[in-house]
Amino acid sequence: MSTRIAQRALCLDDFEEMSRRHLPRPIFGYIAGATERNASLADAARAYSELHFLPRVLRDVSPRTFRRTIFGRDWAAPFGIAPMGMAALVAYRGDLALAQAAREAEVPFILSGSSLIRMEEVIAANPDAWFQAYLPGDSTRVEALVDRVAAAGFGTLLLTVDTAVLPSRENNVRNGFSTPLRPSLRLFMDGAMHPKWSIGSFLRTWAQHGMPHFENSFAERGAPILARNVLRDFTARDHLNWEHLALIRRRWPGWLIVKGVMHPDDARRAEQEGADGIIVSNHGGRQLDSTSGPLRILPDIAAAAGQMAVMIDGGIRRGTDVLKALSLGAHFCFVGRPMLHAAAVAGQEGIAHAIRLMKGEMDRDMALLGVNALEELGPQYLIRTGGTGA
Ligand code: GLV
Repeated sequence: MSTRIAQRALCLDDFEEMSRRHLPRPIFGYIAGATERNASLADAARAYSELHFLPRVLRDVSPRTFRRTIFGRDWAAPFGIAPMGMAALVAYRGDLALAQAAREAEVPFILSGSSLIRMEEVIAANPDAWFQAYLPGDSTRVEALVDRVAAAGFGTLLLTVDTAVLPSRENNVRNGFSTPLRPSLRLFMDGAMHPKWSIGSFLRTWAQHGMPHFENSFAERGAPILARNVLRDFTARDHLNWEHLALIRRRWPGWLIVKGVMHPDDARRAEQEGADGIIVSNHGGRQLDSTSGPLRILPDIAAAAGQMAVMIDGGIRRGTDVLKALSLGAHFCFVGRPMLHAAAVAGQEGIAHAIRLMKGEMDRDMALLGVNALEELGPQYLIRTGGTGA
């Protein structure tokens, strides 16, 4: 481990400031930003800060462990890396860095459908990776992508369901970010002011692997990341409906997860359609603004989810956040932005450090809470600020 990154990043939030300095403004803004007034983003985190612990004492906590099994695989921790687009623009070979760091740390990694490295290459680097699809409501394209994901060897497929249309990401417009990026003097100047990223990530990628393209949006290659007048294909996403989920269920032999569920009735329907799990998520605050923080609705969704595995993402930055989510019924958590910031500033080593920090916090937090196994967690350990118990 580089002692430098370990000295500079003491918690996940520390990566963000380093990443702000390292990345050109449009790219940092794309990761850190959300939509409209960022109300969904803020509430995801606020929901955690409104819950506090009621620790138990004088219990021998020396045998504590936070290993967790999901979808037939035992993992070293109950958290993994959420899917994030364009990681290979942010960091050199970013999707592979995330995949490999997760593999070494024995935590799940979810490859985004908006990624820039072919899924076949990523699964070769991490055979336990999961794949997250953005799909249009168009059976032919649905089937072609599902077949490609299966042929690549993925065992777990997520369908993201909260992206019917593109949201209004005003910060992207203000910062000059678009996909593809449009070549401009402003973009060039921004790159020149961030030479470590320009040379070490962008130009190195271009020289060694050619211009990155959206490789995994469909069965075939998509748009390049930098182009004057190419458009990405977002057509028919607003046609996506439960019939398509049923179609995927019939065609996909592996574990199937619905990501972006925020209502108990939708959780029930997902189970009826044969989903194996759901991720309670407001898409990191990046879709409908003013969506509730996922943690707030987690207990109701967990109660409605039947046999499905209930997972959650959004606003999770600390071991204590994971323990809160698990206490309210989540089986697993996913961490997004901080992992990408860590990748930006220190590649695979940065991500490994971020995972190590979270594991260290979980170990200490469980001991201080008086808990030896994740199964012991429950609402009895929580009190809601200024109100009744959780
Ligand atoms: C991609 O999923 C994004 O939210 O930008």
